[in-house]
Amino acid sequence: MRVLVTGGAGYIGSHTVLTLLERGDDVIVVDNFANSSPESLERVARITGRHATVHRLDVADREALDAVFAAERPDAVIHFAGLKAVGESVAQPLRYYSENLGTTFSLLAAMDRHDVRTLVFSSSATVYGDHQPAPYREDGGLLGSTNPYGETKVMLERVLTDVAQADPRWRIALLRYFNPIGAHESGLIGEDPRGIPNNLAPYVAQVAVGRLAEVGVFGDDYATADGTGERDYIHVVDLAEGHVAALEHLRDHEGVRAWNLGTGRATSVLELIAAFEAASGRPIPSRVLPRRDGDLAQAWADTTRAAEELGWRASRGIAEMARDAWRWQSANPNGYDAAS
Ligand code: NAD
Ligand code: UD1
Repeated sequence: MRVLVTGGAGYIGSHTVLTLLERGDDVIVVDNFANSSPESLERVARITGRHATVHRLDVADREALDAVFAAERPDAVIHFAGLKAVGESVAQPLRYYSENLGTTFSLLAAMDRHDVRTLVFSSSATVYGDHQPAPYREDGGLLGSTNPYGETKVMLERVLTDVAQADPRWRIALLRYFNPIGAHESGLIGEDPRGIPNNLAPYVAQVAVGRLAEVGVFGDDYATADGTGERDYIHVVDLAEGHVAALEHLRDHEGVRAWNLGTGRATSVLELIAAFEAASGRPIPSRVLPRRDGDLAQAWADTTRAAEELGWRASRGIAEMARDAWRWQSANPNGYDAAS
């Protein structure tokens, strides 16, 4: 298959490109490197022995995107490109709405024009908002997020649903990721956030490697087993494999459908820190801070639908996630910047 991957140089994108190349697909990456480095794709080539074709452009640039579709003639698209920082989206809502919606409209127009109507879309568990109890089910009721970033995912799920319902030639997978962490087992690619990480796992990894001093634990008085927040962390390679399962499913299914990509298991902040201590063999200092605004006590997936319909289940556990994240972080303490 020829798969066009927007945002393919990013964290989840690079692992998915790797998985696609390894199974023999031809991959075309469209990325403007706004939040990534071309080095990630060089590393993917080193691991797989195969190269993706890379086009440096903004997905919102309709003319340039049109030319890529005309030249590359993909069979399907996986759409990762977008802005993803929750706090930033609260401060700059207009930027988030216009970027995340604008890039997707530009992509859909190009796909339609070139008769490419198979799409895997990066959605998020954030679409479940704070109004239903875990585990989240895909048919659990109305969607709605607590922040503008999440609202762009809710809106785009609606747009894509309308598009598929209006024209039965579309085949669209809405993949609702839980908390992707970890890295490819080679330690050559991984998560490389710019500035101080917002998310727990990269923060813990940077404390372990000595780049940050201590982990702030956002609240230890939740109604959970140890009082700290519980999440469904999923190994990024399992997540990448979930995209392949969705692409395979779309080969013989029209229409639009949402699937959770999670493990179905909850891990607390303290448990995640302990897993990184075990993986790194180093103590990880931490201090309890007040709760973070907008945080939920617990969030994890009901994974039944993906297992039954996609034949996909996450297979890697927390120890493996921490081990692989640590291998990446310790070999690349400054991410791709220090690449030689
Ligand atoms: P990332 O920032 O590492 O990757 C996004 C990639 O898109 C980057 O390479 C960036 O340079 C590129 N990009 C951004 N805007 C672009 C544009 N206009 N044109 C071309 N390229 C552009 O993020 P990620 O963690 O790999 O996330 C990928 C997708 O998954 C995003 O849509 C994100 O919202 C979604 N998602 C991520 C998480 C998570 O925890 N990482 C959770 C749920 C959903
Ligand atoms: C956050 C986003 C969510 C997004 C997801 C992407 C918020 C409110 N939610 O989810 O929309 O889809 O990232 O992966 O930002 N924690 C600490 N100390 C830290 C960082 C986090 O204790 O320095 C705790 C949090 O309170 C939470 C857990 O760790 O209990 C996980 O946090 P995080 O990695 O930010 O993910 P989410 O909050 O699930």
